[in-house]
Amino acid sequence: MTRTPVNVTVTGAAGQIGYALLFRIASGQLMGADTPVRLRLLEIPQAVKAAEGTAMELDDCAFPLLDGVDIFDDPVKAFDGVNVALLVGARPRTKGMERGDLLEANGGIFKPQGEAINAGAADDVKVLVVGNPANTNALIAQQHAPDVPAARFTAMTRLDHNRALAQLSKKAGVTVSDIKKMTIWGNHSATQYPDIVHAEIAGKSAAETVNDQAWLENDFIPTVAKRGAAIIEARGASSAASAASAAVDHVHTWVHGTAEGDWTSMAVVSDGSYGVPEGLISSFPVTTRGGEWEIVQGLEIDDFSRARIDASVAELAEERDSVRKLGLI
Ligand code: NAD
Ligand code: LMR
Repeated sequence: MTRTPVNVTVTGAAGQIGYALLFRIASGQLMGADTPVRLRLLEIPQAVKAAEGTAMELDDCAFPLLDGVDIFDDPVKAFDGVNVALLVGARPRTKGMERGDLLEANGGIFKPQGEAINAGAADDVKVLVVGNPANTNALIAQQHAPDVPAARFTAMTRLDHNRALAQLSKKAGVTVSDIKKMTIWGNHSATQYPDIVHAEIAGKSAAETVNDQAWLENDFIPTVAKRGAAIIEARGASSAASAASAAVDHVHTWVHGTAEGDWTSMAVVSDGSYGVPEGLISSFPVTTRGGEWEIVQGLEIDDFSRARIDASVAELAEERDSVRKLGLI
C-alpha cells in the first residue's frame, strides 16, 4: 500500500452507531477501496474499555485497508491531524424526550470538540455531525472553529434522504436507483421537509408519476419525518445501522462526488439560498465534486414547499437562539 492513510476520527466510538460504523470504515467503504484509513476513536473515560474491545475486534477482522486504531478520551489528541471527523457521540433521545431537551445536554460536548478541530485538524478536514440535535450541534462546533472554513462542517440528513428514497420506491414500485433528485430541506427533526417536487423516477417527474397528493401529505411526509421516533418506539433505541450506513454514504458522496444528473441532501452552512438565513446549518439539495459541495440553485419553490421549508428553518433559528442564550455560541 503506497497511499498515506486518511485519519478518520469517530466520537462515541463505543456506542451503537459507532459499532455499526467502524467496521464499514475499516473495510474501505467510507474512503474507497484504494485508500487506507487510520481510525482514531474518541470516548468518554467510562467507555474507553468498551472502545478497546471494539478495537480488538477490528484487529481480528484483518482488514487490509486498516492502518491502525488509536483510542482517546481527550478531544485535542483525537482530532490532531484528522482528515475526516465523524461526530457521533452525544446523548441519544430516549422515549418521551423532546429534542429541545437535548440542546443543553449536548451543547457542552460540541464546543470543546469544535475547538479541538480548530487547533489540530488537517487542512482538508471534513466534519460530519451525526449526534443530535445534529444541525445545531454542527453549528456549535463550527462556531468554535474560526480557522476552519465553515463549509467543512456538515450535519447528517442523508438518513432522511435514504428513508425518503425507500418510501417513494415502494409507492412507485421502482428500485431506489431509479429515483434521482430527492431533497430533504431544513432540520434533522420532525419538521424536516422531504420534497419530491423535483425528484425524478426514470427521468420523469416523481410527483406526477405518483400523482397522489393525499399520500404525499398524509403518508410520505410524516412517515419520513417521524421515522426516527417510530424506530425508537419499536426498537427501544434510536436507529443505529441505518444511521451508520447514511454516514458512510454522506462522506463517500462528499469525497467522491454526486452522479451526473443527480444530487444528494446534506445539512450545510447556508449562504442565504432559498431564503434560509445565512449561517444556519440547514439541509439543501447539494452536488459534490472534488471534495467540495455546492447548493443546487434555481429550483422553483411552490407555496406548499415554501411553507414547509420555512417551518423547519424557523425551528433551526429557534435552536440557534437557544444555544446563543445558553452561551454555547
Ligand atoms: P449511544 O448512546 O449508543 O452512543 C453514544 C456514545 O457517545 C456513547 O458510547 C457515549 O459514551 C459517547 N459519548 C458521549 N459523550 C461523548 C463525548 N463528549 N465524547 C465522545 N464520546 C461521547 O448512541 P447512538 O445510538 O450511537 O447515537 C449517537 C447519536 O446519534 C445520538 O445523538 C442519536 O440521537 C444520533 N442519531 C442521529 C441520526 C441522524 O440521522 N442524524 C440518526 C440516528 C441517531
Ligand atoms: C433518527 O432519525 O433515527 C434519529 O435521529 C432519532 C433520534 O432522535 O435519535
